[in-house]
Amino acid sequence: MFSYAGRTANPVPQPLPTRIGGFGGVAGLCDYLRANSITHIIDATHPFAAQMSRNAVDASLACGVQLLALERAPWQVTSGDHWIHVPNIAGAVAALPDTPARVFLAIGKQTLDAFATKPQHHYLLRLVDPPTSQPLPNTTVIIARGPFDIASDTALLRGNKITHIVAKNAGGAGAAAKLHAARALGVAVIMIDRPTLPPRRIVASVAQVLAWLGHSADRGV
Ligand SMILES: NC(=O)c1ccc[n+]([C@@H]2O[C@H](COP(=O)([O-])OP(=O)(O)OC[C@H]3O[C@@H](n4cnc5c(N)ncnc54)[C@H](OP(=O)(O)O)[C@@H]3O)[C@@H](O)[C@H]2O)c1
Repeated sequence: MFSYAGRTANPVPQPLPTRIGGFGGVAGLCDYLRANSITHIIDATHPFAAQMSRNAVDASLACGVQLLALERAPWQVTSGDHWIHVPNIAGAVAALPDTPARVFLAIGKQTLDAFATKPQHHYLLRLVDPPTSQPLPNTTVIIARGPFDIASDTALLRGNKITHIVAKNAGGAGAAAKLHAARALGVAVIMIDRPTLPPRRIVASVAQVLAWLGHSADRGV
């Protein structure tokens, strides 16, 4: 069973039953786990979906359901990078200069309004679905779904004369091209560090998830 938050309009179809939407906090999630006799939770959310991950930990403890998180290693700064580390979105807003800049906001759609306090910048937005509201006065919007490649992201940064990228440290290959492009072009990256989550068991690959299920699931054989 796949469980989606429903943040994108047309998620990629999956070969398993799929449900969409929240549960109503930890209590609601526990009710769902019990009602559907769920024995294992795999938290495969984005590293910044902190509330979903916290709910999964709490529900796992409260209802005795096993939990495994599938989590990519964070990106690491390397030679030639110009990264400014910030702890959260507010830190990213504060790290932007006061003089007008051209900023690639590679952070999805949920927290764009925080940047309305710095309307002097031009913002390039890359979103999965067309925006339904527009909190920023001066934007270019591109509708695209990853994975992205270095040649295209280099052309994107060049074509839009980008001076700063704001990124969440998601890790993985699918969204890393912008960082390679930034390194090559000398573009500054304001890197938002991951939120802190409660202790939980973590693996880095789907193969490890399947091994975990194979070792501990009752397969009825
Ligand atoms: N945050 C990001 O930067 C980011 C980036 C890329 C992708 N995403 C993806 O977008 C989705 C939403 O992320 P988010 O950061 O908005 O979430 P979040 O802030 O961590 O959680 C918000 C709320 O979503 C509800 N929810 C909705 N569907 C759920 C489900 N299937 N399982 C568990 N909880 C669910 C939960 O509320 P109730 O159960 O109480 O209703 C939860 O409290 C996730 O799939 C995440 O992987 C997030």
